[in-house]
Amino acid sequence: MNNYTKKDFPVANVRRLLEPGPIVLVSSAWKGKSNIMTMGWHMVMEFQPSLVGCIVSSANHSFEMIRKSRACVINVPTADLAATVVDIGNCSGRDVDKFEKFSLTPEPGVAVRAPAIRECYANFECRLADTRMVRKYNMFIFEVVRARVATAPKLPKTIHYRGDGEFMLSGAETRKWRKRFRPEML
Ligand SMILES: Cc1cc2nc3c(=O)[nH]c(=O)nc-3n(C[C@H](O)[C@H](O)[C@H](O)COP(=O)(O)O)c2cc1C
Repeated sequence: MNNYTKKDFPVANVRRLLEPGPIVLVSSAWKGKSNIMTMGWHMVMEFQPSLVGCIVSSANHSFEMIRKSRACVINVPTADLAATVVDIGNCSGRDVDKFEKFSLTPEPGVAVRAPAIRECYANFECRLADTRMVRKYNMFIFEVVRARVATAPKLPKTIHYRGDGEFMLSGAETRKWRKRFRPEML
């Protein structure tokens, strides 16, 4: 068993250990314009309805676009798009058309008006389900109403953010502990 030596750690930095879900690109549309932002702070909240909580800073252009249109698409990019994912997070839709700047292809949403990003491995069309946490936490609760996922590869190499410019790319995959789950917990 591990016997780590530990030291005090700034509570503001616990994100560096808790955060690494896949980095996603959130696309939105409002009044004929579309936009994309990079997002690391998201959380699965329920199976059915399929709910996902997302923190979108009110300083971001996407904030009002999502709030007003009440929709977005959560797109899951793979490692080959990592540089683009960072660059998208380092500019604002206020100043640039990110689909054009980054040569990404918008695909019209079917269940929502926001466009999906063709080059991403998965696209989850979302409707805003609950805004009660927006004012206090900038937290939007979305319901995924349509999902499209690439048929191959089966396990995508996703990008995970550790904070402070450090990333992790998904790596070894195993089913080694699968038998330990109760079937209903899988
Ligand atoms: C790796 C990474 C993760 C990010 N995660 C978030 C996030 O979870 N929430 C957020 O509001 N902004 C996040 N950002 C910042 C936004 O992506 C950035 O402010 C973006 O440029 C906003 O674009 P917009 O003004 O066009 O909406 C992240 C940026 C990067 C590079």
